[in-house]
Amino acid sequence: MACFFRRSAALQLAKACGQNEETLIPLISVAPVNRRQCVADLRVSVSHLLQSGAVRPDGDLQNTTHTLARQIRPDAVVEEVIAGRGVIHFRLNKLLLAQKLLDQLRSDPDGFGVQSEILRRLRVGRTLVEFSSPNIAKKFHAGHLRSTIIGNFIANLKKALGNEVIRVNYLGDWGMQFGLLGSGFERFGSQEKLRRQPLEHLFEVYVQVNREAESDASVCSAAAQFFRRLEQSEEQALELWRHFREITIQEYKRIYQRLGVEFDHYSGESFHRAQTQTVLDELKSRGLLKTSQKGTGVVDLSETGDMSNYATLVRSDGTSLYITRDVAAALDRKQRFGFDEMIYVTDKSQSVHFQQLFHILQAMGQQWADRCHHVAFGLVQGMSTRRGEVLFLEDVLEEAQSRMIHNMRQSRTSKELEDPDLTAERIGISALIVQDFKGPLISDYRFEWDKVLQAQGDTGVFLQYTHARLCSLLRQQDCESSCSDFSPLLDSRSVSLLQHLLRYDEVLLQCATDLQPRHLVNFLMTLSHLVASAHRELPVKGSSAAVAQARLCLFSSVRSVLANGMRILGITPVEKM
Ligand code: ARG
Repeated sequence: MACFFRRSAALQLAKACGQNEETLIPLISVAPVNRRQCVADLRVSVSHLLQSGAVRPDGDLQNTTHTLARQIRPDAVVEEVIAGRGVIHFRLNKLLLAQKLLDQLRSDPDGFGVQSEILRRLRVGRTLVEFSSPNIAKKFHAGHLRSTIIGNFIANLKKALGNEVIRVNYLGDWGMQFGLLGSGFERFGSQEKLRRQPLEHLFEVYVQVNREAESDASVCSAAAQFFRRLEQSEEQALELWRHFREITIQEYKRIYQRLGVEFDHYSGESFHRAQTQTVLDELKSRGLLKTSQKGTGVVDLSETGDMSNYATLVRSDGTSLYITRDVAAALDRKQRFGFDEMIYVTDKSQSVHFQQLFHILQAMGQQWADRCHHVAFGLVQGMSTRRGEVLFLEDVLEEAQSRMIHNMRQSRTSKELEDPDLTAERIGISALIVQDFKGPLISDYRFEWDKVLQAQGDTGVFLQYTHARLCSLLRQQDCESSCSDFSPLLDSRSVSLLQHLLRYDEVLLQCATDLQPRHLVNFLMTLSHLVASAHRELPVKGSSAAVAQARLCLFSSVRSVLANGMRILGITPVEKM
């Protein structure tokens, strides 16, 4: 609906400067709501107009602004045009704003924002998002948790904006670690423990065998031998490896479900080990693979061909590396899924790896390499639980849940719940997500449970609380009845909420442009703060029928935008807490 208003302003502006309104629409934006009374609803920067050639300068910037503002005629939609500092403000007809916005939100709550005209500028197609990607038998560390929730957000966002999304989990399921694990399991593994606590037991075996390998050379050679058996596809060794892989995936699926995350494919490094030879052959035939003095196979990635920047794809013993498998995986995915873009989500320590990967694909003549992106994120320090360092994803979920249960018991406002554990878990997870998404993804941050789970302040708990409170208000009243008179919504509180809702599509556009969730988090936080004051100042109970009805309609619309925004972030909104 923002489009209707943006278009109206663009039309008046177009008439004033003799331009086509279509070219002006992208330059018009919704003014953010702030504490001070908003000057305007929409605005356009005169510098941008000058840059785009839509407007000719008339003296300095301020003079140009004034001249232009005088030339724009208000109409029934844009009631007033005001010259600001290098910006032109448009004031909208507030009754029309309420009417149009709320009508649309009621008729198509899920299409609101995501179907906006300004989002049509984005390419839509098939997007492959690769995320989470833990390693079998190793720790699931905070980095994997970040990858999981960030990748999920990107996949949700892309989907909401009309893309076909393929979610891939690329497991670390091959390499020397399986030599150690396999040989270790043959010695002190237990099928019984493996059944009961698969992730813990595999990790236990892996840690023990690693420890022994440090001082005992025979352990290393047993491991090397086991890995050789795997590489040679010896059935017995493969059988054990397959079993490890399968139970790990089963277990992860269960835990991801608690997090509300799903994958279309569980692939992994093992899938592509056979294809690495084809990759190497192709590189060789293109003259890209060179043998270094150390006997390794390398690809020169320098500008000038002086090997100042290169990637190693073959070890001196002829075996392939992580990046070799990644090249094979990318080629295979392109062929299998025909994606239009591919997004990898890992911590920033792998940035160089992905740059090299894209570079190699480019050198191999794969034009689509420039539609592969790496979304990098920073490190989290201090994420631990009462049991100590985080080793498994489930530890974090348990900790979030139990702390949240404790907090809810302390709180006086807590409601009787059908399933308090599930509610606590959902709220705990939303707190983790919001904490993680608040800043730029690339920043490192320190993790503190108490801060994360606070009910006040800009936390996930606060978002959930706002949502639950809106639900409770709507439950108490009959809000099915339609509202036709919006005139009770002309007070400043209601108007601020409406103005803020108007910005939703721009926020989604920002997120889609840089794949950073913080724009959406900030938007939902501001929305929740506005709701908090609205609750105080816009009572439903005790108001006349017309006023109550209009307010309920507003609250119900706000609730649906809040819920949809939360779902894109990967949060399941709760209805009671
Ligand atoms: N398993 C890797 C790790 O834990 C992450 C995999 C990232 N994806 C990729 N295609 N290389 O570090």
